[in-house]
Amino acid sequence: MPESAQPVTPVSFPPAFLWGAATSAYQIEGAVREGGRTPSIWDTFSRTPGKTAGGETGDVAVDHYHRYREDVALMADMGLDAYRFSVSWPRVQPTGRGPAVQVGLDFYRRLVDELLDHGIRPALTLYHWDLPQELEDAGGWPERDTALRFAEYAQIVGEALGDRVEQWITLNEPWCSAFLGYGSGVHAPGRTDAAAALRAAHHLNLAHGLGLQALRSAMPARNTVAVSLNSAVVRPVSQDPADLAAARRIDDLANGVFHGPMLHGAYPATLLEATASITDWSHVRDGDLEHIGSPLDALGLNYYTPALVSAADASGPGQRSDGHGASAFSPWPGADDVAFHQTPGDRTEMGWTVDPTGLHELIMRYTREAPGLPLYVTENGAACDDKVDADGRVHDPERIAYLHGHLTAVRRALADGADVRGYYLWSLMDNFEWSYGYGKRFGAVHVDYATLARTPKSSAHWYGRVARTGELPP
Ligand code: NOJ
Repeated sequence: MPESAQPVTPVSFPPAFLWGAATSAYQIEGAVREGGRTPSIWDTFSRTPGKTAGGETGDVAVDHYHRYREDVALMADMGLDAYRFSVSWPRVQPTGRGPAVQVGLDFYRRLVDELLDHGIRPALTLYHWDLPQELEDAGGWPERDTALRFAEYAQIVGEALGDRVEQWITLNEPWCSAFLGYGSGVHAPGRTDAAAALRAAHHLNLAHGLGLQALRSAMPARNTVAVSLNSAVVRPVSQDPADLAAARRIDDLANGVFHGPMLHGAYPATLLEATASITDWSHVRDGDLEHIGSPLDALGLNYYTPALVSAADASGPGQRSDGHGASAFSPWPGADDVAFHQTPGDRTEMGWTVDPTGLHELIMRYTREAPGLPLYVTENGAACDDKVDADGRVHDPERIAYLHGHLTAVRRALADGADVRGYYLWSLMDNFEWSYGYGKRFGAVHVDYATLARTPKSSAHWYGRVARTGELPP
């Protein structure tokens, strides 16, 4: 059913479907100097002039570190079943190696217990981009040792929290860590080196595989381990062979580079060929692919908007950095002859086109590519130009429409046979949107950055009703 043909009766989801919201440590916690925490690459990057809008940092963010009880109460009021958050590596292991800091682990233990007390299931992401700066100083993700350090960190957190957290996610959007962090440089650590970006992608894959194995050895067998990928929906502007080849190239760099080794045991041959002038991939060692291919329990998909591409000469040269900020350097190594175009349609405040058909397409693709593997939408949402009304309320009909359209797409995928087990709205509350700073609001809950007061927007009430009833209104 096309999204335009809206049903006239409510649409039901399976009773066990998990309704959640997501956040990440650096975007919400603040308290960056407390409890022995040391700087991560995002502290360093955001404090570097010119790297984030208005020089904004996560120093205070939304002060979740001190207000987590209030935030869990908000989730409970909304009727959420689940909450996806990330652990800050430098809060737990400040130098990225060696013994854990108990104060850091205790914060997450308290948060998890608060969630469980409210009947909310925690989903813990180990890495949402905040690498301890000391590990970057030692070479960062382009170096193999970082993957080994991640496995040690995974072991520590798995041992500490595996008794109370059942759902685990190794990495969040490693594409961004590798290609925005080391390729276009719009994310921390801000390096612009195509070969380093490709090495980083492999070592993130290795970190995922070794981390997954470490978690399995550290935790009860009932726990599940997944990864959250910003798997892209890549569409060619035409069926012209040159445009199809361009789409294939971007698909390899966005999807195949992670799904290839994780799901199919190898990097796509077309990816290796297209990047051969940049790297010979000799950093891939014997046995790495076996580690990376360790069986997953579920796959997390983060989806916001599709990508529309062509061979460069269809539109003249031009690149976009996947909507995550402009850079003279491409985040797409070996694809300088590919041009990106804006998909027609309404756009969010990020400039990202609203297109729920992409989410359906993505879910169906991974239903085919990874048969039998449960799927979760681990992120989906919209930045809107939210304003507080005179009565103190925040009405965000655009966000409700966005969520409605995308949940309709998820429901349609379920009807088409996909095994989607849950949906996490990005984000629970407004927060630090990386290089965009605080200007882009993704939250269902509004945050007044002057007072840090939280106000549920109308989307929070709407989504809460959906979560409580398991029904999408017409
Ligand atoms: C992806 C990232 O995981 C999250 O940190 C970010 O805020 C959202 N997408 C929106 O850009």
